[in-house]
Amino acid sequence: MNNNNNEPIIVAENLTKQYGGTTVVNNLNLKIKKGEIFGLLGPNGAGKSTIILMMLGLTEPSSGSIRVAGFNSTKEPIKVKRVTGYLPERLGFYEDLTARQNLKYTAELNSIAQKDIESKIGEALEIVGLEKNKNQPVNTFSKGMKKRLGIADVLIKDPQLAILDEPTEGLDIKIANQILDNIQILNNAKNITFMISSHQLNLIQKICTSIGIMSKGKLIGEGKIDNMGRGLFSEGRYIIEIELSNVNPEIIQKVRTIKSVVNVESNDNILEITSDEDIRSQLSRVILENNMLITKMNIKDSSLEEIYLKYFKEE
Ligand SMILES: Nc1ncnc2c1ncn2[C@@H]1O[C@H](COP(=O)(O)OP(=O)(O)OP(=O)(O)O)[C@@H](O)[C@H]1O
Ligand SMILES: [Mg+2]
Repeated sequence: MNNNNNEPIIVAENLTKQYGGTTVVNNLNLKIKKGEIFGLLGPNGAGKSTIILMMLGLTEPSSGSIRVAGFNSTKEPIKVKRVTGYLPERLGFYEDLTARQNLKYTAELNSIAQKDIESKIGEALEIVGLEKNKNQPVNTFSKGMKKRLGIADVLIKDPQLAILDEPTEGLDIKIANQILDNIQILNNAKNITFMISSHQLNLIQKICTSIGIMSKGKLIGEGKIDNMGRGLFSEGRYIIEIELSNVNPEIIQKVRTIKSVVNVESNDNILEITSDEDIRSQLSRVILENNMLITKMNIKDSSLEEIYLKYFKEE
């Protein structure tokens, strides 16, 4: 991530969308900072694409507001479009035109100077690894190639912000990872902020600098993935699991007296310690002072799995 004085590039305030009587985006408050790769993650139907459409001014909020790069998306959609690249969920290329012809069309729509068009097309195609396919009609492209062409299309206008709706949907894992690598490289090299929507939590989260989890129109968690599980599942607490050479009531009592420990449970030689802080170093000291040996210690990091099971698993 690049250093950008932490300014937000996307700000949603009480953003709500209803279709008929159904609320599909429910009072969303969200700030995304410049330089981030933000993952908007949630299962099918959670409201991700609807949020993106509101960001781009392609559909109006029922209430609340959304700003992108300082512009109100609903009132100034053209200004938002000028600084934003968008990969739609369903790509809309002219199938019988070539990759180059499609990108040229985008470049012209975005008033790129004629003299720069060919070099920009070349550069964008090279980044996504499609330079060899430049003169091939899009209807001969595989799904993965089309997604990559979609990313090239986003890059043509040198956006500050790239909004990618499901960039890896339907792709095999190798191609999906190539796309994610491209995103990371562009974030670093060109300082592009990314907003990525996906229902593929496990796949996408590894490149995200922060994520938001959507469920049924609501943002139920937001922040760094490492902290997310603690926030959502254990009231901000740490769970430390430690295996000792032997366990006796005395040591359990001593561990209980460490500041910020709220609970200690024992099972054979394993202690499960719940605490308000990461107390691994104090813990090691207490154990060693009591002439015991630690054979294993880890902070339980099942947060991602728990999030997945609770919100993403098909019902
Ligand atoms: N134009 C529309 N009219 C009525 N309902 C809609 C419309 N667009 C979306 N919805 C409903 O809003 C809800 C959220 O849809 P949305 O497409 O935003 O979800 P999503 O999180 O992008 O899902 P996916 O992962 O499948 O792309 C869904 O229940 C959907 O059926
Ligand atoms: Mg969607």
